[in-house]
Amino acid sequence: MEAKDAKKKIILTGDRPTGKLHLGHYVGSLRRRVELQNSGKFDDIYILIADDQALTDNWDNPKKIRDNIIEVTLDYLSAGIDPDKSHICIQSAIPALHSLTFYYMNLVTTQRLSRNPTVKSEMKMRGFNDNENVNDNEAGLPAGFFTYPVSQAADITAFKATTVPAGEDQMPMIEQTREIVQRFNQTYNCDVLVKPEILIPENATQRRLPGTDGKAKMSKSLGNCIYLSDDAKTVKTKVMGMYTDPTHINIEDPGHVDGNMVFTYLDAFSREDQFAEYMPDYKNLDEMKEHYTRGGLGDVKCKKFLLKVMEEMLEPIRAERARWEANISDVYDILESGTKAARETTEATLAEVRAAMRINYFDDRSIIKDWDEWVHGNHVG
Ligand code: TRP
Repeated sequence: MEAKDAKKKIILTGDRPTGKLHLGHYVGSLRRRVELQNSGKFDDIYILIADDQALTDNWDNPKKIRDNIIEVTLDYLSAGIDPDKSHICIQSAIPALHSLTFYYMNLVTTQRLSRNPTVKSEMKMRGFNDNENVNDNEAGLPAGFFTYPVSQAADITAFKATTVPAGEDQMPMIEQTREIVQRFNQTYNCDVLVKPEILIPENATQRRLPGTDGKAKMSKSLGNCIYLSDDAKTVKTKVMGMYTDPTHINIEDPGHVDGNMVFTYLDAFSREDQFAEYMPDYKNLDEMKEHYTRGGLGDVKCKKFLLKVMEEMLEPIRAERARWEANISDVYDILESGTKAARETTEATLAEVRAAMRINYFDDRSIIKDWDEWVHGNHVG
């Protein structure tokens, strides 16, 4: 059983349900997940909707999280996550994750958590006040937020995940998880927990897709997103309004492709075969870039091509979404059965964890057998 488990390749990944997914999520993770799912190389795949983690900085707005669970699930399903191959599950409905978090807390110091770069930068971004004003009950970080890396380690290890496809920003979380695994197995002299590997996106654009306005990152708060659920008219407006090259005023002017969102997005989304169909003046993106750089190629023509490329990708996703929206109770059933599968898997891990810690008091009357041995020196069964 150990040996078989050790060989299993298991994916665990997840998102906080704080908003609809956009193209940045799609190129950075969702598209990859679908490929990994369809590669047939994994024994099990779990996608966790991390609603508890989302509450660590949205505790005052549970409705937002609640509504976005369905949005994110619709995004997954319409982008090609297949519920027959991947279990989509809801974190808060998986109690073993909470138990594991509590035990792992003992294996991590507050010092170590303070050094976690993701926690540090999120602290700054969200304006949490971390100064230690001992007389002020409002000062400092909410303990739940501060310890969410521990809960994330529980998410990952509960499934015995070997592979965590995630953004670069999640690297410190995986590192922290690996340390917890190491400490747990060492402290309790076992090999119950599995050290995960992160799988980050292959290239820079996938790692961080800039916004339509040219800002470094596509992000809801910057209002520069194209959402998977945007309708065709909205996508057209956003593409036509994209940031290009402010020095490229007349068509004849030489243009810049670096930092020009139309070309960045073409890098991320276009395929060579689409040129023959939609942009036959050029054989490929390099030729098109060359002409733009030289001068003589206008932004509108480039944007129209990009729009074709985007629609070829987005239209099937949109159609799938409409299909799922019309069968919303199927979406509920998918979440319920994915969560049930996740519960079974994680309960099994929790049982092993408790056995390793010898806090499995009600397994086979072990607690009284041990007591008997301790008090009477009897060796029972
Ligand atoms: N921290 C991730 C995010 O902010 C979400 C997440 C929660 C996650 N648990 C996970 C990612 C486990 C990978 C593995 O998007």
